[in-house]
Amino acid sequence: MRYAQRLSHIEPFHVMRILEAAQQMQAAGLNVIHLEVGEPDFPTPQPIVEAGLKALAEGKTLYTGACGIPQLREAIARFYQTRFNVIVDPARIIVTPGASGALQLILALLVDQDSEVLLTDPGYPCNRHLVSLLGGTSVNVPVGADTRFQLLAPHIEQHWHDKTVAALVASPANPTGTVLEPTEIKALAQACNARGGALIVDEIYQGLVYGRPHETALALGEDLFVVNSFSKYFQMTGWRLGWLVSPPEHVAALEKLAQNLFLAPPTAAQWAALAAFEPATLAIIEARRQELDNRRQCLQGALAQLGFGIPATPQGAFYLWADAGHLGRPAAHFCEDLLAAQAVAVTPGDDFGSQINFLRFAYTQPTHILEEACNRIHNYLISG
Ligand SMILES: Cc1ncc(COP(=O)(O)O)c(C=O)c1O
Repeated sequence: MRYAQRLSHIEPFHVMRILEAAQQMQAAGLNVIHLEVGEPDFPTPQPIVEAGLKALAEGKTLYTGACGIPQLREAIARFYQTRFNVIVDPARIIVTPGASGALQLILALLVDQDSEVLLTDPGYPCNRHLVSLLGGTSVNVPVGADTRFQLLAPHIEQHWHDKTVAALVASPANPTGTVLEPTEIKALAQACNARGGALIVDEIYQGLVYGRPHETALALGEDLFVVNSFSKYFQMTGWRLGWLVSPPEHVAALEKLAQNLFLAPPTAAQWAALAAFEPATLAIIEARRQELDNRRQCLQGALAQLGFGIPATPQGAFYLWADAGHLGRPAAHFCEDLLAAQAVAVTPGDDFGSQINFLRFAYTQPTHILEEACNRIHNYLISG
């Protein structure tokens, strides 16, 4: 059988090789430390689990409307109002299967054959692949420590061409954990809109910020698209639930796409997610956010002592983007050797673009395990 040509533009995740090897080592009885996976060790908060169980017991198992149940769209709108003091019409909120579903919707809305979308290099790899699946071209703009690895308005001026339809940024970002300032997002939106294009802001790590206020790009106006998810802040990765906030005039077209692509977001997950905004859940999540901040500080200090550079201090998400240039070889080789020698799994920079001297460390494990991981890395480095 011959596969479609588009498959040739889709790369596998390099980290899957690491993960597979790590799993084999674990099966052989080794104690592997996982710092490669993009989800913390916390289970979904209990009030959400209970609401999900109740929904299933009550038979809430049939399709919902393509944009999600009104109760959840309203609850998300209320959350924007109470937390950020931003009024969002629930009709602008489309509930999706994860942020992944929201990204599929918005890119399917905008990307034509040969359209270009500006993305960051390094950046979340699925976006490049989604753009190419749709027949477009991702323009992976190299971004460095000088802009905290973020795309800014001057990049738009430099890289926007006739075929460019959108720029996609994430704040906080994966793999760097850096945050865009509201003034920077405003300038980006103006630069995109002035060229007849769209700005998409992926806020999937919203709320997971350290030492700075909770923010949303929606405070800046209606003329941008915002992607969000219950996966990370609400610790519901496996429930597959996210949302897209659109300018009002594009909702009907997005709804048509949602009907055809997904029919509906997962039903029980939607009822469960209603409990995400309850005070008891938010208290659990806040304690976990503080725990993540402790882990961030612990790992950042330990990695610096081991000689890794952290050129842009992460203020959000749960990743550290560490320069491993001092090791004198591609980070991917280091990752393989480190796993084999010391059973510590981290993600090579290759997965996020061309910065192959970098590593992504996910601080998704308790502090004592992070310390143990750094001891093992130290042992590996001194063993030559
Ligand atoms: C930046 C970013 N966007 C989107 C996603 C997709 O997340 P989900 O579909 O679980 O909401 C991820 C997952 O790691 C991510 O890091």
